[in-house]
Amino acid sequence: VWGAGASRGLFLVFEGLDRSGKSTQSRKIASHLEKAGPVKWMCFPNRKTPIGNAIDLYLRRQLELPDEAVHRLFSANRWEMAQGIVEDLRAGTTIVCDRYAFSGVAYSAAKGLDFAWCQAPDRGLPCPDGIFFLHIDEKVGAARSNFGDERYENAAMQASVRAQFKDQRLRGSVNWRDVDGARDAEVIHAEIRDAVDGMLEERRLHAVEQLWM
Ligand code: TMP
Ligand code: MG
Repeated sequence: VWGAGASRGLFLVFEGLDRSGKSTQSRKIASHLEKAGPVKWMCFPNRKTPIGNAIDLYLRRQLELPDEAVHRLFSANRWEMAQGIVEDLRAGTTIVCDRYAFSGVAYSAAKGLDFAWCQAPDRGLPCPDGIFFLHIDEKVGAARSNFGDERYENAAMQASVRAQFKDQRLRGSVNWRDVDGARDAEVIHAEIRDAVDGMLEERRLHAVEQLWM
């Protein structure tokens, strides 16, 4: 557990399937929060680090890796940022993050890896203050999807990931909110903004906790 304080930043995570609107919504809330103080936007995978480079090659199908190995790389890519996240939060910077450990588990479990095995390497990471899960149903997803050729960008995989995201082992012990992502972007943003404004003062009084511990 890392120190609480009235001035610490908030750690907000956006999750969902590919094309669910995470990037749009995470950038909108980051701009909104910038009016109140320093904000950093980040995403996982962070393709810019050496580990992230390997993940990027894997996703673009230029590198083949066993499912277990790439799962550990995705987790390591979060761990290499973890200390920096804690330091930023303590220093008063709010972090808005596009994908985190929840994607890590859902995508790997969707490929058939054991769920608890997938969760284990991410245990102990900084725990977000709030997770906004942008839900879109199958039909909306299919209408929106203009999938490229990255790995996982196909309807069968997305359906399988959607099922994994429902698992209580992901949602149970964290501040998880389902948001209907099928609506107009401004309507969705207003709902998220109200939720975040409502949690601002309350969450800051809590220490930054450790995920799934
Ligand atoms: P992106 O589309 O948000 O750039 O993410 C790239 C893909 O990587 C996306 O299909 C989700 C997947 N992914 C994992 O499989 N494990 C992870 O830990 C993360 C963060 C993403
Ligand atoms: Mg994608």
